[in-house]
Amino acid sequence: MRQGDQAIDATVGNGHDTLFLAEKVGPSGRVFGFDIQAEAIGATQARLDASSLADRVILFQACHSTLSDCFEGEIRAAMFNLGYLPGGDKTLVTRTATTLTAVAAALSRLMPGGLLTVMVYPGHPGGDDEAEQVESWAAGLDSENFAVEIHRWKGRTATPPRLIAIERRAPV
Ligand SMILES: C[S@@+](CC[C@H](N)C(=O)[O-])C[C@H]1O[C@@H](n2cnc3c(N)ncnc32)[C@H](O)[C@@H]1O
Repeated sequence: MRQGDQAIDATVGNGHDTLFLAEKVGPSGRVFGFDIQAEAIGATQARLDASSLADRVILFQACHSTLSDCFEGEIRAAMFNLGYLPGGDKTLVTRTATTLTAVAAALSRLMPGGLLTVMVYPGHPGGDDEAEQVESWAAGLDSENFAVEIHRWKGRTATPPRLIAIERRAPV
């Protein structure tokens, strides 16, 4: 990440990843953050205010599948942390169909050398299918243009999370 970059936090939740991205893009950069829950938007806004970084972040209480309509230009990074809000309502989870729309939209804005990450959590209702489908979408990307790495933790549970990282290759 460089000063002045644009980035997406597609699932702001409690705002930890948003804050991380806001620090990285610097005062002239922008982070676009999405969450469907007012509670998550409020928690993230409070975290940014406490760190005096709110002016670099634009928050949308909206589904991340709408992200293409919300800003112009390319991004250097996009982070998706799927599932439910820790400490919140566990029935309000990301869903396979909108997640697939959103990751494809974010990838289409990713600049060469940029990175898109997706943390997937099998184990909760709908989580297994979402994890499988995102992984299979990533595995099917054109390897000429995208480098894909999938990290599986050996977990304490039968369904540990996975990190899917996709880099848009810079032209040679
Ligand atoms: C695991 S939490 C994110 C944690 C967050 N990255 C952090 O640092 O605290 C997942 C979040 O995704 C949100 N979410 C669920 N469906 C969504 C959707 N369609 N679009 C955007 N956010 C969504 C949930 O409301 C929840 O806050």
